[in-house]
Amino acid sequence: MAKDKILVIGASGQIGVELTLALRKMYGNANVIASDLREENDLLRGSGPYVSLDVMNKEMLHVQVIRQNITQIYLLAAILSATGEKNPNLAWNLNMQGLLNVLDIAREEQIKKVYWPSSIAVFGPTSPKQNCPQQTIIEPTTVYGISKYAGEFWCNYFNHRYQVDVRSLRYPGLISYKSSPGGGTTDYAVEIFTEAIENKQYECFLKADTYLPMMYMPDAIRATIELMEAPEEKISVRTSYNISGMSFSPQEIADEIKLHVPDFSINYKPDYRQTIAESWPQSIDDTVANNDWGWKPEYDLKKMTKDMIDNLRN
Ligand SMILES: NC(=O)c1ccc[n+]([C@@H]2O[C@H](COP(=O)([O-])OP(=O)(O)OC[C@H]3O[C@@H](n4cnc5c(N)ncnc54)[C@H](O)[C@@H]3O)[C@@H](O)[C@H]2O)c1
Repeated sequence: MAKDKILVIGASGQIGVELTLALRKMYGNANVIASDLREENDLLRGSGPYVSLDVMNKEMLHVQVIRQNITQIYLLAAILSATGEKNPNLAWNLNMQGLLNVLDIAREEQIKKVYWPSSIAVFGPTSPKQNCPQQTIIEPTTVYGISKYAGEFWCNYFNHRYQVDVRSLRYPGLISYKSSPGGGTTDYAVEIFTEAIENKQYECFLKADTYLPMMYMPDAIRATIELMEAPEEKISVRTSYNISGMSFSPQEIADEIKLHVPDFSINYKPDYRQTIAESWPQSIDDTVANNDWGWKPEYDLKKMTKDMIDNLRN
């Protein structure tokens, strides 16, 4: 393990910060290089090396991979669902070309392992709403979902054709208190906590009864690391694995928050993100991930809410 050198691309984002810190704990600070287009996140400062990097600049990326003797790449740079609908071309370009640049370099430099997240956004209105299975009808209606589904098949292609060991998870909406979310449809489930603590009031951009699959960040980080550390023969899915955490509506999370913040109130003003949310499943079946590499979530709504509030109050 000590010989591995990891490059995290998009390390200043919601997942990147926590994943970089977790990888630094496992592999040693000096062996995990954080990189991003924007400046280094404050939570990363002083914890290890940082380089400024645009994943669209393939030449510069290639130079860094060679110069730093990189053996594993985690690619997190992307444009998320809500932002993607505002600028479809930009989302398609970054989400596709960024991935192709990394996969090409991984093939040329024989990178040991690549991680690239997909999303429950691959599913569309024709997918089953409850316990949506690993393999089912997949007809995404957002540019983000289209880019993630295409990306899954690029990963599968590079694995089968060039033996690149690329692994992927279809994350649900991720909830965290350390770094802010980056323009997704499930961002309300993070904002609601900070608003509850700071202002005791939240205006939600989704309707009260909109159920979506969600996951607490510690589960997402653990899932990512467990997948990446699993022996190669355990990985049967080379597109992307369904993983499940919990499922709730804005009304349910508001009720749970009220147990900790009794004078909290919520009102609803649905916007364009309601249509995106309604195109996705409400819950996910992750049997395949469970069977292949033993995935099991730890946090439900109650446990996550308590942990979020305790941490935000400190
Ligand atoms: N957060 C979620 O709820 C969620 C859910 C499903 C999937 N995902 C996926 O997980 C990954 C990470 O998501 P996140 O929530 O951390 O996103 P984020 O927007 O918080 O972070 C992405 C980071 O990528 C950086 N970036 C953007 N363009 C770049 C470029 N050209 N070169 C280098 N860096 C660039 C941004 O500056 C940002 O720091 C994405 O692929 C996303 O689609 C996230």
